[in-house]
Amino acid sequence: WLNNVAWPQVREVSINRLCESKKILTVNGQFPGPTIYAHKGETIIVDVYNKGKYNVTIHWHGVKQPRYPWSDGPEYITQCPIQAGGRFKQKIILSDEKGTLWWHAHSGWQRSTVHGALVVYPKQGTTYPFPKPHREIPIIIGEWWKEDIKKLVDEFVASGGQSRNSDAFTINGQPGDLYPCSKNGTFKLEVEFGKTYLLRFISAVMNELMFVKIANHNLTVVGIDGSYTKPLTREYIMITPGQSIDCILKTNQKGDQYYYLAARAYSNGTTFDNTTTTAILKYKGKDHKTSSPPLFPYLPSYYNTTAAVNFSGSLRSLASKKHPIFVPLEIKERMISTISINAFPCPANGTNSTCQGPNGTRFAASMNNISFVKPTYDILEAYYYHINGVFGTKFPSFPPFKFNYTADYMPLELEISDLGTEVKVLKYNTTVEMVLQDTNLVGSLDHPMHLHGYNYYVVGWGFGNFDEKKDPLNYNLVDPPRVNTIAVPKNGWTAIRFKADNTGVWFMHCHIERHITWGMKTAFLVEDGEYPEERMLPPPPDMPPC
Ligand code: C2O
Ligand code: CU
Repeated sequence: WLNNVAWPQVREVSINRLCESKKILTVNGQFPGPTIYAHKGETIIVDVYNKGKYNVTIHWHGVKQPRYPWSDGPEYITQCPIQAGGRFKQKIILSDEKGTLWWHAHSGWQRSTVHGALVVYPKQGTTYPFPKPHREIPIIIGEWWKEDIKKLVDEFVASGGQSRNSDAFTINGQPGDLYPCSKNGTFKLEVEFGKTYLLRFISAVMNELMFVKIANHNLTVVGIDGSYTKPLTREYIMITPGQSIDCILKTNQKGDQYYYLAARAYSNGTTFDNTTTTAILKYKGKDHKTSSPPLFPYLPSYYNTTAAVNFSGSLRSLASKKHPIFVPLEIKERMISTISINAFPCPANGTNSTCQGPNGTRFAASMNNISFVKPTYDILEAYYYHINGVFGTKFPSFPPFKFNYTADYMPLELEISDLGTEVKVLKYNTTVEMVLQDTNLVGSLDHPMHLHGYNYYVVGWGFGNFDEKKDPLNYNLVDPPRVNTIAVPKNGWTAIRFKADNTGVWFMHCHIERHITWGMKTAFLVEDGEYPEERMLPPPPDMPPC
């Protein structure tokens, strides 16, 4: 690090977890990767070297990168991957982000080990809208497979079926002492009595929504996805893949025992039999005299949707004179998009052994019935250099056909999606409302939908089918949470709003990795505006070759 410049190296190292040694891809040999610290509004130069064996790209999750999609990172969306031995100088351009964000690989499933925190402090000389914490601690929740990730994904894709469950969840890279051979590494949080701590939670988990709780302590949410929120005090939080949640912890317990900080999967379609990941909270100067185990927190059970939406539906923006928010009130572009798990026919000459999806099909996933196919040249450069044939501009604003999205029974014909590489084109400054509607085609699930290049306001959500007449009457247009990722409830819908004032090509996808692989993704292409400051900046000279 030197004056906001860094030279991270992506490379493999061997590390031990769950009694086995394994080679993983890392940044600078660290797992999780290094934390980036910055102040609001700063620009950081990150000169990424790929010293690994495979293609890689790095994405700055939640950073809007105003007018500069070139550094955003998703492979074949805004750049071609950095090849082995290659190098790409990226810029992290912070604007109004404040709080906790993160960075991760955006190529295949490499983000499982290539990720880290991005901490954005308030502008120099200013402070938080809450009392200054005694200490600040990033807490990254992750997922660990004993298997080599590339091998695992190749097998998963070839099978047409489900991906294999992970072998452990992790806190700051460690499964915690409930897993075998994991006692020594368990993350320990040492605190003093009577102070406040800022815990910067990040979910780098690949496929599951998580409940998180500390025994005997409440958590007060003060920020989410790099925006402040009204304080929300809860016994537990729910965090989806992609989200970051800032919480205040008050150390107000006797402290003569240890407390577990525990995280456990809340959903999804697959069942888990592995244990919960844990860290240990201990009070300084109070030694744990007895041999009794740390106090375990009560966590909501699997599939407790009520508990999950009760938390995420209670988040509110910190809307005030000092922190004004600008929810678009008049909408130019109304969109509804189904988000579905689909079935896809096996290739005619394929054998059933490679079609382990529903009724001998392959699994797929879609937005408005299109399973997005990754192009072989990136969409941003294809757009900028007028290269034809890379992508289409026909992402539909509405589902191609109407059906009872959340009905119990669905005919197989409906389950089949189309393939395509279609983006949605938006004129500069268009105000957009997008209703994301889960379907029960193959099965309903919570989908944490993430948008690059923007924060959006979550103005409404509900269960069942979205009702165009009634549901908008209940929108929150006063203090809706401003986020980059939100879990659309299973068999339900979520309405989001944003103003298309950041020109470029911006990926939108479910942040559950297996759903990305199956095609639950699209992109917005936001055209240049009239004035120079509304136009995309030129590309850097060292864009990785395709
Ligand atoms: Cu966290 Cu498209 O990414
Ligand atoms: Cu999903």
